[in-house]
Parts: sequence; structure tokens; C-alpha cells
Amino acid sequence: MAYLIEKPVEVARDHFLLRITSESVAKPGQFVNIKIGFTYDPLLRRPFSVYNYSDGIIEIVVRVVGRGTSWLRNHAQIGKIDMLPPMGKGFTIIESGRALLVGGGVGNAPLYYLAKALKVHGVSVEYVFGAQNADLVFLKEKYETLVDVFHITTDDGSCGEKGFATDCVRKYGEKTYDAIYTCGPRPMMAALVEMFRQSRALIEVSVENYFGCGIGLCAGCTVETVQGNQRACADGPVFDGRILLW
Ligand SMILES: Cc1cc2nc3c(=O)[nH]c(=O)nc-3n(C[C@H](O)[C@H](O)[C@H](O)COP(=O)(O)OP(=O)(O)OC[C@H]3O[C@@H](n4cnc5c(N)ncnc54)[C@H](O)[C@@H]3O)c2cc1C
Ligand code: FES
Repeated sequence: MAYLIEKPVEVARDHFLLRITSESVAKPGQFVNIKIGFTYDPLLRRPFSVYNYSDGIIEIVVRVVGRGTSWLRNHAQIGKIDMLPPMGKGFTIIESGRALLVGGGVGNAPLYYLAKALKVHGVSVEYVFGAQNADLVFLKEKYETLVDVFHITTDDGSCGEKGFATDCVRKYGEKTYDAIYTCGPRPMMAALVEMFRQSRALIEVSVENYFGCGIGLCAGCTVETVQGNQRACADGPVFDGRILLW
């Protein structure tokens, strides 16, 4: 059984952090599936990436977009919470060299725990945090103090450089990364894959599309790849960016 150990903490406009006990260790890139409310409506659990894991505590950052996420913000109480253990295929952690991490919006969430794991292995981490505007930037200091090089971009220039995360990569990025990791809006991830497709770097993307069952049974989360259809929940959510059909 999982327990919510404190009330949701607001970390940006419409974004909050939940801290939940977990008997299983989470790997970077995995997600948890949370039951909303106490009845069968809504029926489907909601998936959230692990933002951080340490000493039996999973942290997630939730952006309020609809019914389930609103319920979590307004009604989740300290105590028991119906959360399945972390699941899915996570990121490959390179053991040395240089990594570029690019997040868009709440897609930055899984990249924090990834950055932490890469730093443990001595990897040099360059991070691009993209958001629509300053109000939607969450936990900036946590990212900034963790990584070696940190850039922040907002669409309207209200925080960091004006423009998209991909503009920033074009401006400051180099050709010599050993790995590129990304999570965020699909066009952003597609553009990044194209930028680095011909390089020797590992390219991994976390796909946060719609989930149904979340456990590999319904095909509701199908993604098309050069190897045929795959299920984001069971075969991902992290995929080799080069095999996805964008
Ligand atoms: C593997 C994975 C990891 C995720 N990690 C996070 C995370 O760390 N933090 C976070 O805030 N969200 C994350 N999401 C998205 C999150 O699951 C959805 O925002 C959530 O399920 C919406 O529930 P709701 O009941 O509030 O919205 P609903 O009432 O179901 O929908 C409200 C609106 O949001 C849209 N929407 C719902 N789900 C998605 C989705 N997956 N992608 C795009 N639009 C959607 C709907 O089309 C609708 O317009 C993740 C999704 C996946 C698949
Ligand atoms: S959500 Fe049902 S198979 Fe992935």
C-alpha cells in the first residue's frame, strides 16, 4: 500500500508535487498509475512519470488539465493512495561522457530523476528546460543546481531566453553528445530526433500519449515504429527516438 505523506505542494501555476511512499524502487523514466477518487468513475487510472525517487519515496509533478488531475489537487488526502508500483521501460543510463536533456512543460518531470542518475555515474549533463511562460516553470533551482550546464527557455521570454527549447539546442548545442534524452510535446521531440539522427549519440524519448489500461492489455497507447506497432505503456514509455515513426 502506498501513502501520500504530505498535502500536494504547489510548484508552479497549476502544477503540484506529490510525495508518495513506494515499496518498489523506481527507475528513471518509469511511471506510476494512480486511481482517481473512490468509485469506478473515472474508471481509468492516470499515469505520471517519476520526477524523483529516494529512500522509498516517489515524487511526481502533476499539471492540472482535467478531472483526474483536479481531483488529485483538491481531494487527495494524506494517507493511503491507490498507486500501482513504478512500471514501464525507463531510460538507458550511460556510464560516462556527455548527455543533453531537453524537456518541454511537464515533460521536464521525468528528466530530473534521470539527470540525478546520470550525475551519479559521472556523466556531464547539459539541460534545456522549456516552458510556455515563467508561471509554468517548476522547481527551477533543483534542476539548475544538479546539472553542469542549464538553459531555460520560454515561448514568450518571461523567463530565460525567448523561444522554444529546440531553438536553444540549435544555438548552444554541440555535435559531441553521447546521449540525448527528451520528454515533452511531440513536435519538440520529433525536431530533436531529426537534429541528432545522423550523430552517434543514443537518442531516447519518453512518449506521454493517452493510456487506457496502462498495463499492456488494450492497445490504447499504440505507437508506430519501424519495427511495427508497440505499446507505450508496456514497451515504453521510453523508446529509441530513431525507431519511432514521427
Ligand atoms: C507515461 C506517461 C507519463 C505522464 N507523466 C505525467 C507527469 O509526470 N505529469 C503530468 O502532469 N502528466 C503526465 N502525464 C499525462 C497525464 O497522465 C494526463 O495529464 C492525465 O492523465 C490527465 O488526466 P485528467 O483526468 O486530469 O484529464 P482528462 O479529464 O482525462 O483530460 C483533460 C484534457 O487533457 C488531455 N489529456 C489527457 N491525457 C493526456 C495525455 N496523456 N497527453 C496529452 N493530453 C492529455 C485530454 O485530451 C483533455 O483535453 C503522463 C502521461 C503518460 C502516458
Ligand atoms: S494503455 Fe492499454 S495497452 Fe497500453
